[in-house]
Amino acid sequence: MHSHEVIVVGAGGAGLRAAIAAHEEGADVALVTKLHPVRSHTGAAEGGINAALKDEDDWEDHAYDTVKGSDYIGDQDAIEAMTEDAPSEVVRLENMGMAFSRDEDGRMAQRAFGGLSFPRTTYASDKTGHMLLHTLYEQVMKRGITVYDEYYVTRAVKEDGECHGVVAVDIQTGRVEGFQAGATIFATGGVGEVFSHTTNAVSCTGDGMSIAYRAGVPMEDMEFVQFHPTTLPSTGILITEGCRGEGGILYNSEGERFMFERGYAPNDGELASRDVVSRAELTEVEEGRGFEDGCVHLDLTHFGEEKIEERLAQILELARDFEDVDPVTEPIPVKPGQHYIMGGIACDSHGATELPGMYAVGEAACVSVHGANRLGGNALLELVVFGKRSGRHAAENHLTNTSKSAVEDVVAEEQSRVEELKDRSGGEHQSEIRADVQEAMTEHVNVFRSEEGLEEALEIVRDARERYESVNVHDTSDTFNTDLVQALELRSIIDCAEAITLGALERDESRGAHWRYEHQERDDENWLKHTLVYPGDDGPRVEYEDVEIKKYEPKVRSY
Ligand code: FUM
Repeated sequence: MHSHEVIVVGAGGAGLRAAIAAHEEGADVALVTKLHPVRSHTGAAEGGINAALKDEDDWEDHAYDTVKGSDYIGDQDAIEAMTEDAPSEVVRLENMGMAFSRDEDGRMAQRAFGGLSFPRTTYASDKTGHMLLHTLYEQVMKRGITVYDEYYVTRAVKEDGECHGVVAVDIQTGRVEGFQAGATIFATGGVGEVFSHTTNAVSCTGDGMSIAYRAGVPMEDMEFVQFHPTTLPSTGILITEGCRGEGGILYNSEGERFMFERGYAPNDGELASRDVVSRAELTEVEEGRGFEDGCVHLDLTHFGEEKIEERLAQILELARDFEDVDPVTEPIPVKPGQHYIMGGIACDSHGATELPGMYAVGEAACVSVHGANRLGGNALLELVVFGKRSGRHAAENHLTNTSKSAVEDVVAEEQSRVEELKDRSGGEHQSEIRADVQEAMTEHVNVFRSEEGLEEALEIVRDARERYESVNVHDTSDTFNTDLVQALELRSIIDCAEAITLGALERDESRGAHWRYEHQERDDENWLKHTLVYPGDDGPRVEYEDVEIKKYEPKVRSY
């Protein structure tokens, strides 16, 4: 049995930042993570982190851009907290040693990103997430914070309406262990594995959302899933928005710069927000002006090799190695792919959930600052700002009366669940069920959604839940049993897929990344509200909550 004042589950950027903040407040804090920290998906973030750093810029403009980007369903108090804190948090990263790209005068360079009224995205070439992750991990090591890596957390311990810690499988040994904690912060990332075409790592399986949900904490706004406009068709690998920020151009098969020429975004063109660009691309394809594999072309050839090498070196390698295309001389074929979920574990702007002792942060959380559509460069920002806030709050307010025996009871229950799973014969292998869910979600819960498609997806997901009752694993060993871990993850995937689809089916309007054939307009009168999905005895229960409007009244959103 391990015991700490604060446990952070997940060691990507959000988890590391939360752990650092809790440690700074004097708490005994530890990280529990299914991956070694520097293998976390934050390392794949390419383009940058937003902050109003320049004299000509203003954090309130950043707040307004974010509210507009969210299609007016982001909570404005939380958005203001994030954008006001952005400059100091980015400077803090620089002070920690993060290697930001520079302007000629030596100051931090900033570039344009979609949906921003000012070029305020700071970056480290096209490896911003990688640099940020390593910088924060150095700080964790420097402070001697305990890291339990390669532990897969299966359950939160709930007793008397409070969270007493978590239980996890030690992937190296197969043993089930307990972690008693006065505060547990879930920083477990997103849900890319719910879909088959995604920019996310295979580790992004929605575990924190599912564990919190099973402990009675609602998932909020799960229907808002972001599809990034520029992913490689064969693998889903991200081609950063930084390409368009640097002047990259999108063309259809008729050689038209369609974002302007077809009127999708007459002012901002390729730098409209992601939901707008993804819909435009797929409309071009559906109307017969696309290329093979449902793609359009992203052209960087006018940059010249030197600029691409300097600003977008990783893109050069990715396009050459994975798509066999050389961006110096030819356009890159791109299409929308699942990239991010705006929804997550419902929490306040300190990361606190409605279950005392449980917190959430980063992509796993819904604060909500992204609403119906996140702006590029605001994810890395969210994780440092709210990582700091949740780590501090957890350190100052952790419970002091947690029960060791409650944790031990759950260890015993989870141990027998795992043993039973490994002993099973018959049933279907976890990979078959996972593939069916991913295919259904990609086909029916994508950029364009219809009632019929959503109903079909929900049926397939619910059927997957029944099939999961007799799911089988082939590997029965104890050491590094990834087959077992994937079977455990599958339950998280199913929980998240169901919440996404149900939220999408109920929300009969179009807002941000959620677009419905039958209801193509935004409907503020009925739908200016957050979706909350709670677990119930007969399946999920949906409730709604008002959006926090401060000074920005909803208006028509165009780019
Ligand atoms: O396109 C990108 O580089 C992604 C950035 C983001 O999602 O914030």
